Amino acid sequence: MSTDTFLSIDFGTSNSLVGAYHQGKRYEALTLDEKASDPTMMRTLLYFPNPDLCYYGAEAIEQYIQQDMEGRLFRSFKSHLPNQNYLGTVLDNRILTLETLIGVFLLELKKRAEKSLDTEVTKAVIGRPARYSMDSVADGFALHRMQKAAAFAGFKEVQFVPEPLAAAFDYRRQLTSEKIVLIGDFGGGTSDFTLIKLRPSGFSKDDVLAIDGCPLAGDALDSVFMSHKLNEYFGAKSRYRLPMGSNVMTMPKGVTLRLNHPAHIVHLKEKDTYEFIREVKKCSLTAKDAEAVERLFVLIEDQQIFPFFENIERTKRALSNSNETDFEFDYPGLEISEHFTSPQFVEWAKDTRENIFASLDQCLKDGNVTADQVDLVCLTGGTAKVPFIQKEFEKRFGLERLQTQSHFHSVLSGLTEAAGFVAQGTQIL
Ligand SMILES: Nc1ncnc2c1ncn2[C@@H]1O[C@H](COP(=O)(O)OP(=O)(O)OP(=O)(O)O)[C@@H](O)[C@H]1O
Ligand SMILES: [Mg+2]
Repeated sequence: MSTDTFLSIDFGTSNSLVGAYHQGKRYEALTLDEKASDPTMMRTLLYFPNPDLCYYGAEAIEQYIQQDMEGRLFRSFKSHLPNQNYLGTVLDNRILTLETLIGVFLLELKKRAEKSLDTEVTKAVIGRPARYSMDSVADGFALHRMQKAAAFAGFKEVQFVPEPLAAAFDYRRQLTSEKIVLIGDFGGGTSDFTLIKLRPSGFSKDDVLAIDGCPLAGDALDSVFMSHKLNEYFGAKSRYRLPMGSNVMTMPKGVTLRLNHPAHIVHLKEKDTYEFIREVKKCSLTAKDAEAVERLFVLIEDQQIFPFFENIERTKRALSNSNETDFEFDYPGLEISEHFTSPQFVEWAKDTRENIFASLDQCLKDGNVTADQVDLVCLTGGTAKVPFIQKEFEKRFGLERLQTQSHFHSVLSGLTEAAGFVAQGTQIL
């Protein structure tokens, strides 16, 4: 038995969880956020009312609302890791690199875990998506930044473990015989797959047949509501003509791509983009075109981006349980009322779904396994609840081979098991 203490950290795009391997025992999920409906899960959110003060998780939202949404709220920042153009942000006059931003968040997770375990910890097993990016250079860059973030948080020894492999460790506990298992973990930022030969006990790294994934998941599904409908309220289709110019133009792609995505929309605040939108408004073709751009300013200026995307996410979740739902947003100047249906959502999400399942096909191909040879398919993560994801698996593998975990702890549980392996010197990768 090892006396080493390792934290296991599932740092998610939307939600984060921490466990530990401590004094030879596994601690599955430590209390992280007393204010959350599940205190073992903290929303991956940071709120800086000013550069010297930061709130986390449920309290970040509470304070953000209490303080009239002044200051800066950061969400989905894990998605920026592979983006070489995104180095960080500026808080007042201070540069905050992405590594520091994530480091601040990891440090808080560490402090809360240490409090819960009543001991200082400097070692961790941290989850990572199968692929931060489809581009291998960007993927390496992302991992390097995570290493820096972990060092910032005070971790001296860190092992990164693919999140879908961690989920496989968790599923293994239910097995009584060896099986070829496909794990799908559908989160906020990434969809991750592992194909693995799972045995009830013992583990060899050769059992891992393939790991693959792609940076499209829950946030990408939220974004289709914007890209296919709601962005027109914010000028995505507004026409303008520059002074002296003769061409009628519409909002450029660089702006609409930001507008559409929960992780990128905050960048509309950047000076150049902001100035450009102001110009578009001045040169709008009609009053209606200008009105839509004005709504974009209200969205940005009145700090309505976060609540607006929260509303979109609620709408998406409602469509997991019902065939249609209403979208209502009633902030003054931004009143929007729409009705959405499941078939609409399925149609809008077609490209995203196809890309996600292409990476599943790649995983099977890499593992040299056909769909028929898979004994069991286990799905986890919040986005696994989306009906068309479920249906696609049913179509490919049949309901009998499908198992969906409703809780959010599979990755953490597996990371905690991996922490035990690492503490005892077993190589897992
Ligand atoms: N009932 C539901 N229907 C559809 N989507 C849901 C539902 N519940 C949660 N989600 C989505 O699941 C995502 C969060 O899932 P999860 O906590 O597994 O992600 P994460 O671990 O933080 O992200 P990642 O693993 O990609 O870094 C969000 O996009 C959320 O909107
Ligand atoms: Mg996850």
